[in-house]
Amino acid sequence: MKRTLFVLLAAAFVAAPALADQALAQKKNCMACHAVEKKIVGPAYKDVAKKYAGKDMAAKLAAKVKQGGSGVWGAIPMPANPQVSDAEATQLVTWVLSLK
Ligand code: HEC
Repeated sequence: MKRTLFVLLAAAFVAAPALADQALAQKKNCMACHAVEKKIVGPAYKDVAKKYAGKDMAAKLAAKVKQGGSGVWGAIPMPANPQVSDAEATQLVTWVLSLK
């Protein structure tokens, strides 16, 4: 019974990777300043995806997520996010860039 439940849950996560990624963004506090559809403190993730569509920016953006930075979207800087690992930063940025 437990095993069946686990398999079902695993299947749900595979079926909804975008939701899993958004949950990670929530857990890592990204959604305090960002939303998918609209600007809050930082740019809407869909606008980020649009800006970099077709460009190979994942590594650069993952580094910026970790270290923070400013000057691309306006005067407000993004503070460093030391709570994310390199792998998590890459996962989050890959998700952001995949939004449409
Ligand atoms: C305190 C508010 C705040 C938090 C928390 C925050 N951001 Fe940001 N983010 C910003 C701001 C402001 C900018 C715009 C910076 C700029 O103009 O260069 C930004 C920009 C970005 C960009 C685009 C960078 C670029 O150069 O175009 C990405 C991607 C991003 N954030 C992802 C994240 C992720 C992932 C997290 C969670 C680990 C996160 N942010 C947490 C405020 C925040």
